[in-house]
Amino acid sequence: MRAETILVVDDEKLIRWSLKQSLQKESFNVLEAETVKAALDRVSEFEPDLIILDQRLPDGTGIEFIQKLREISFDNPIVMLSAVDTSNVAVQAMKLGAFDYVTKPVNIDELKIVIEKAMESIRLKRQIAFLRDEQKKQFGNFTIIGDSPVMKKLFNMISKIAASDSSTVLVTGESGVGKELVVRTIHALSERKDKCFMAVNCASLTESLIESELFGHQKGAFTDAKNLKKGMFELADGGTIFLDEIGDISSSLQVKLLRVLDQKSFKRVGGTSEISVDVRIITATNQPLEEKVEEGKFRADLFYRLNVVHLYVPPLRERGNDILLLAHYFLQEFNKTFRKNFKGLSGETKELFLKYNWPGNVRELKNVIERAVLLDEGDYIFSHHVELGHLHSLSKNEDAGYSTTNGNLTFSQIERSAVLDALTKTNFNQSQAAKLLQISRDQLRYKMKKLGIKSKSI
Ligand SMILES: Nc1ncnc2c1ncn2[C@@H]1O[C@H](COP(=O)(O)OP(=O)(O)OP(=O)(O)O)[C@@H](O)[C@H]1O
Ligand SMILES: [Mg+2]
Repeated sequence: MRAETILVVDDEKLIRWSLKQSLQKESFNVLEAETVKAALDRVSEFEPDLIILDQRLPDGTGIEFIQKLREISFDNPIVMLSAVDTSNVAVQAMKLGAFDYVTKPVNIDELKIVIEKAMESIRLKRQIAFLRDEQKKQFGNFTIIGDSPVMKKLFNMISKIAASDSSTVLVTGESGVGKELVVRTIHALSERKDKCFMAVNCASLTESLIESELFGHQKGAFTDAKNLKKGMFELADGGTIFLDEIGDISSSLQVKLLRVLDQKSFKRVGGTSEISVDVRIITATNQPLEEKVEEGKFRADLFYRLNVVHLYVPPLRERGNDILLLAHYFLQEFNKTFRKNFKGLSGETKELFLKYNWPGNVRELKNVIERAVLLDEGDYIFSHHVELGHLHSLSKNEDAGYSTTNGNLTFSQIERSAVLDALTKTNFNQSQAAKLLQISRDQLRYKMKKLGIKSKSI
């Protein structure tokens, strides 16, 4: 016997009997009710996982019953049975949040498919709710969805690292795996949580800017320095500073950072006095820093100091069913944002998602779902709603997706053309182009820098 219980609400005994037979064969636990009143009693006593509901009942209508269920906050799926000539009732039921409807006479195979989908959707919903709950206890307000062994290991590490208050942490992992989310969670769980969290994207600022951003400057230190400015290190005193894309910092900044790590003090640009701070430094990169060290592009001594504790966030393709869990999570979020009612992914989409290598990782999955929910209508995300392999390779085995099935272009060539395209369309307005590409302006600037694209004015 399965754990799941289905309540069949219909006044016709024969229909109840035949549905019960078929559903019991599928190992569901089946309850029956022939009136609204009896159905409400069953609901409060047994809390069924799913209700199959006829429209016409002796003491009311199916719609009235759904309204009553909403009043008592019952929100497990309801499948309406509707006669062909009452399809407006089905529509009304769907508006009230019924999961789906099946027309009478009931085709049992069709009904079974609808039930399976509904059950899958509540299973995922419950799993997400459970994880959220667990994480609330563990991680406060941050939700990092994941139930795979690799992610469980990561959660364990996060808790330990957060508790060991001051150690410097290096977070690595491919682009879009959730490094920033992990870092923010560490801060939020640490004893420093009530102090400042400062994030600096080292790739998005020029060298001189980043120095004054980090360390501040004295009045008059350079032409534009009209006032004294405190830097991030000073502002983050007692808290955490997050240096993102650390692999991109210049060699002179590497030296300065090493000094901060060694002496826990620094000087403002143009300043003479040493300023001492107590700051936890967390850095992140998606570049292979060890290789950069070997190539002489990153100081070995700095690398070892940053790498006191190393946290590796695994790529999405190694997280198995977490892909579907995350897809469902984002689906719920974007349903809310865009007031849509997508119920899940079609079978084909699921297969595609599990097969795809996700070179842009969780961010790519999030974008794919956002786009599908925003642009499409319907109940399920079908594979033609999703734009996969558009930029990236479909094969898991290919080298991290940096080649494509689409001509022989490299990933960065395609990225370059997408960025250029967006910039041209927006007459080089970076905010608008970033919006088109669904990335932040900082990320766009970073990509432009990386891809050697100059802004129009230069
Ligand atoms: N496990 C997760 N659960 C829920 N949301 C996630 C998860 N992992 C990542 N996200 C979301 O995906 C997006 C990308 O995550 P994030 O910015 O932390 O990635 P990143 O590794 O820092 O990327 P990059 O290398 O490009 O800087 C964010 O919107 C984040 O909230
Ligand atoms: Mg990041």
